[in-house]
Formats: sequence, C-alpha cells, structure tokens
Amino acid sequence: MAVVVVTGSASGIGSATRQRLETAGDNVIGVDLRDAEILADLATPLGRSEAIAAVERATHGRLDGLVVCAGIGPESEPWSTIVSLNYFGAHALLEGLRPALAAAEAPAAVAVSSNSSTLPNADTPLVDACLAGSEMEARNIALTLDGHRTYAGSKRALARWVRRNAPGADWAAAGIRLNAVAPGAALTPLLQRGLDHPAYGPAIRNFPIPLGDFGTPDQIAAAITFLLSPEASFCCGSILFVDGGTDALLRPDDY
Ligand code: NAI
Repeated sequence: MAVVVVTGSASGIGSATRQRLETAGDNVIGVDLRDAEILADLATPLGRSEAIAAVERATHGRLDGLVVCAGIGPESEPWSTIVSLNYFGAHALLEGLRPALAAAEAPAAVAVSSNSSTLPNADTPLVDACLAGSEMEARNIALTLDGHRTYAGSKRALARWVRRNAPGADWAAAGIRLNAVAPGAALTPLLQRGLDHPAYGPAIRNFPIPLGDFGTPDQIAAAITFLLSPEASFCCGSILFVDGGTDALLRPDDY
C-alpha cells in the first residue's frame, strides 16, 4: 500500500484522484482548507509549513506519492492569491516534501498545471518572478494583470519548474519521478465558478474542444494516477495534456 499526499483533495480533480487511489488500496492523506486529514491554507507561507510538518509527522518522513492539485481559477480575487496558491503553494509542497519522497522506494510526484499555460497571454513577467522564487514580486505583478493572465502565468511557471527540475540532481538523480498534467476544461466547482462569471463564462464556452465536451474530474485523475504508477516508470519531466485536443488544435507544431 502506497502513502500518497493529495492537495486539494476535497473537491473536483483532487477528490477524483483520491477516489482512484483509495480504490486501488493506497493510503491517501488529503491536504485542503476543509474535509481533509490535514487542514491548511496553502496560499500562505505559514499554512504551507504547517502542512509540510503535519505530513512529515503522519508519514514518519517517508512518502510514496505527492499530487499538488490545490488551485483556484481565474475569477478568484484578489489575483495575487491565485499565484500564491497555484504556483507558490504547489512549489512549496514539492520542495518541502522532496526529502520524504526521496526516502521511499519508487516515489513519484505530479503537479497539476493547465492547458492555459501555453496560451500566448500566459507569457508575462509573472512567470519569471515565480521561477525566481519572488512571491512578493509575483503577487504585485498579478495585481497589474487580470485573473486569466495571472492564472495562466502561474500554471506556465509550474509546468516550466517541473521541466527544469525533473531531470536534475534533486529529482531524477534522487530516484523521484516528477511530471505534470495539463488539464483542459473539466467540469468541477472551479470550472463552474468560471462559467457563472459574466466575463470569464463566455470565454470558457468559446474555447474549442475537438473531442466535443468538457472533461470530467475522473478523466484528469486517470492521467494523474497513471503518472504516479509503475506503468509510468520511464516518464520524467512530461507535461501530459488531458484536454480533449485543445492544445493540439491551437499549437499543432509546438511540442
Ligand atoms: P476545485 O475547486 O473543484 O478543487 C480545488 C480544491 O482546492 C478544493 O477542494 C479547495 O478547497 C482547495 N483549495 C482552494 N484554496 C485552497 C487553499 N488556499 N489551500 C488549500 N486548498 C485549497 O477545482 P478543480 O477544478 O478540481 O482544480 C484542481 C486543479 O486543477 C487546480 O490546480 C486547477 O487550477 C487545475 N485545473 C482545473 C481545470 C478545470 O477545468 N477544472 C483545468 C485546468 C487545471
């Protein structure tokens, strides 16, 4: 039985991931604002360090899998909180729990990015501020952007951090497989809040999905649990798009 930490486990993709793992017999430790084994606000430095300490206590410093899924959507204000949770919350848990992962036999971690991360408007100075580790600067930049560019930038930074670090000394060479999924629109409470928003709703509905419809949380969870599993034992630094074909449609020649 593997021990797996899932952030954002109370809802949507995180909850579907939890269900799949538990069905397979794994022991899931959820981290969320509510309905989880560990209650923590991952948008704040204090919440992140409390969560990391609580996981270390619960796992005795040995963790088989980590899924950093907690996130909020482009309609969430203030926009500075989007970058604090979606990038810095995810990054802090990946780095903070890396020693516990390294102590396991065949550990793996999965970050949840987004297919919005490849859109041209995701490319802003926010990405560099995130990758430089400057949360204050990133939060200030977010306040000059809009929710969508902040969201997409936070997810681009997370995917880029995975690409830069997965093959390196701290991850691959330490025996930890690090990968990401880039979901497209999947019908969860997060997406529903966007659809209900007067500005973001029409934009989301106009986004083309070649396979026809929104995805389900379980379709994204299937990709996450694949990347965690031994079936993906040669995957390292992959960004797995699970988006009904949107990214391939918009960027056929870029991969
Ligand atoms: P959701 O809203 O259903 O679930 C998000 C979970 O994160 C909730 O349980 C919530 O309580 C938790 N959370 C929110 N703020 C938190 C905080 N400060 N600290 C700790 N936990 C917090 O959302 P969904 O759709 O399942 O999203 C999961 C991830 O997937 C997010 O990172 C999101 O950006 C990403 N994603 C979702 C897409 C979609 O269409 N649903 C598309 C692309 C990416």
